[in-house]
Amino acid sequence: MSKMKNIIAANWKMNPDSQKEAEKIFNAIKQGVKGAKSEVVVCPPVIYIPLLKGLPIGAQNVYFEDKGAFTGEVSPAMLKDLGVEYVIIGHFERRKHFGETDEQINKKIRKSLESGLKIIFCIGETTEERAEGKKNEVLERQIKLGLKEAESYKLKAESLNVAYEPVWAIGTGNNCSVEETKESIDFIRTLAPKSIRILYGGSVKSENFGDYIKKSGANGLLVGGASLDAVEFTKIIRSAEQ
Ligand code: PGA
Repeated sequence: MSKMKNIIAANWKMNPDSQKEAEKIFNAIKQGVKGAKSEVVVCPPVIYIPLLKGLPIGAQNVYFEDKGAFTGEVSPAMLKDLGVEYVIIGHFERRKHFGETDEQINKKIRKSLESGLKIIFCIGETTEERAEGKKNEVLERQIKLGLKEAESYKLKAESLNVAYEPVWAIGTGNNCSVEETKESIDFIRTLAPKSIRILYGGSVKSENFGDYIKKSGANGLLVGGASLDAVEFTKIIRSAEQ
């Protein structure tokens, strides 16, 4: 475990709105992270992927079939062919806006691992679930169902990454405290395969990236809004390495 690099991933979501801007942000990040000790992964909208070269790339979604009549979808093989290394699966926004279920997420995880993609598997509780004391129950359900039979693909050390993203912390400016993050990460480690990296995500900024990596046991960060600002994102990476 100690030999694995930390991973800092940028989730651009459905941004920016032009190729020019995507290239500009990407090139500034590439410049800013030269010599970084962490693995820096950029997850842009899939349409920009062929433009962006020089850092590991992740997709934000994938489908679980090889090919065929699935209008609008993209397969793991298509991503691999573009040189994509990672794919985010199970992000809260996909669960909420597109009705993704734990069962679909599990199919996507299995198919992607089988295809040789590395996974950033997102889990996290809502405000209500947290208030009702159901956080661990939710995390346990998401992990058990999401990773069902995934072990059979003989996970390589870095092929499975779990991102703990409390829903109430995503895009709200209300990041989870380092103490509470540690509790959740410790709990997740009791459930998931031993060799995985666990990331924290939710309103990470350069002023609060704080001690997630040093004190919460996280092996990295998943950064949304702040990753569209190359200066801010670079600052997070540099500070997390000190
Ligand atoms: P945020 O998003 O950093 O903008 O809160 C994180 C995520 O959704 O992955």
